[in-house]
Amino acid sequence: MTLDGMAPLEPVIGVIGTGYLGTTHAACMAELGFDVVAQDQSPERVARLAAGELPFYEPALAELVRRHTASGRLRFTHDVADLAAVADVHFLCVGTPQAGEGMAADTSQVFAAAEALAACLERDALIVGKSTVPVGTTEALVAAVTRRAAPGIDVEVAWNPEFLREGHAVDDTLRPDRLVLGVSSAEAEKILRQVYVDVIRDGAAVVVTDPATAELVKVAANAFLATKITFANLMGELCEAAGADVTTLAESIGLDPRIGHQFLGAGLGFGGGCLPKDLRALIARADELGVGHARRLLGVVDEVNESQRTRTIETAVELCGGSVAGVRIAALGAAFKPGTDDVRDSPSLAVAARLRDLGATVTVYDPHANDNARAAEPDLCFAATAQDACRDASLVVLLTEWEELVRLDPGELSAYVAVPRMLDARNALDPQRWQLAGWEHRGFGRSSDRAQPSAGSRVSEMELMQ
Ligand code: UGA
Repeated sequence: MTLDGMAPLEPVIGVIGTGYLGTTHAACMAELGFDVVAQDQSPERVARLAAGELPFYEPALAELVRRHTASGRLRFTHDVADLAAVADVHFLCVGTPQAGEGMAADTSQVFAAAEALAACLERDALIVGKSTVPVGTTEALVAAVTRRAAPGIDVEVAWNPEFLREGHAVDDTLRPDRLVLGVSSAEAEKILRQVYVDVIRDGAAVVVTDPATAELVKVAANAFLATKITFANLMGELCEAAGADVTTLAESIGLDPRIGHQFLGAGLGFGGGCLPKDLRALIARADELGVGHARRLLGVVDEVNESQRTRTIETAVELCGGSVAGVRIAALGAAFKPGTDDVRDSPSLAVAARLRDLGATVTVYDPHANDNARAAEPDLCFAATAQDACRDASLVVLLTEWEELVRLDPGELSAYVAVPRMLDARNALDPQRWQLAGWEHRGFGRSSDRAQPSAGSRVSEMELMQ
């Protein structure tokens, strides 16, 4: 199908899905001056967004949503026919979670959304996928939407993956470092260049390619980031065994511009709604395509990442003298990283829950994620401040490196705890500062701390599985 002559001067933009990705994309497109209609199948979510209320925490986004619902440039609807009636370009921003027990991504929401839209289109349209999908999805979608669209309606499907980070979503959308346009026609490229005209003028690099490459670019980027973190964690393990310091190691290798400093932070490892599931989905797709090496490399990345949680728990047990049963522990942080209230596959919350399972009395404090953490782990205790969480604790574990937590004053915090003992699972604190204030400090792979927990005090795998 072709979109010959379609490129409207001021395309009206449709967005399907109002999670982190869709809401941010819709609000940012309105900020760039477009009329935007965003659709979600949940009427409750639509009502909240229309009232300018975000169903999740994301810095700067609520203000944009309120500004553009007020200006009239941004509307929310639960009916996809509303999009079909007015929009020229439709961005697919629905979820692609890990499918059940397997490793593959579940793309059913992508297909359902695109097919529902195609069925009510009354004019030619460009559907642009932004969700993270297995390579080959666009090709299958083209067939699906073509079957559903009325005769004479031309629909093209392009892929324009999103690289935004939670916590920086608005800035990453308005000022991305690159735009990857996976298109099958010059007309689709022209339309997308119109949509992003200001972003391109402000310096974003543009890569024009085919949809399959665009799909793969996204998962490759996340898999690479995950691999980089796991490499840092392996070096941390080596440093710990050898009495060396992983923070100095990372700083030193990062000075090589071919390596760079980012994503070399050793500690509790990666989590969230993207890196873990994208890594696994890539393994599953590589298997389908018969590329065996991918499973070997990326499988180890996933395994090492999971083992960081176990290592953190082992260290907590060792610091508590061989058992955490009956020990009062403060868990500082529950979100999978700072800047978000997202607790999906959060290593921080997983560690807090497993310490509780081992018999500890765990009190969690997170600056923004307490509510989501409570919904996921209702049996944990929660506190309204870091100080309250630390009251009478014999171990404090820093699990998410929020600035508020990294800035805590060790001298002041001593007054709240029973034993001044800090396990810094993110290597985010200055060990000397805490030690000078009388704290026992333990990081990960740091020479300023004591080396490996003794074999005798290690928790058995059996105990950890319980
Ligand atoms: C990630 C990618 O960074 C985005 O580019 C991508 O668009 C997004 O996934 C997505 O696919 O939608 P995000 O999940 O928001 O973004 O989180 P990151 O900032 O990438 O952090 C991921 C995890 O890595 C966090 O748990 C973080 O704590 C951990 N991490 C990060 C480390 O353990 N060490 C580091 O040095 C850096």
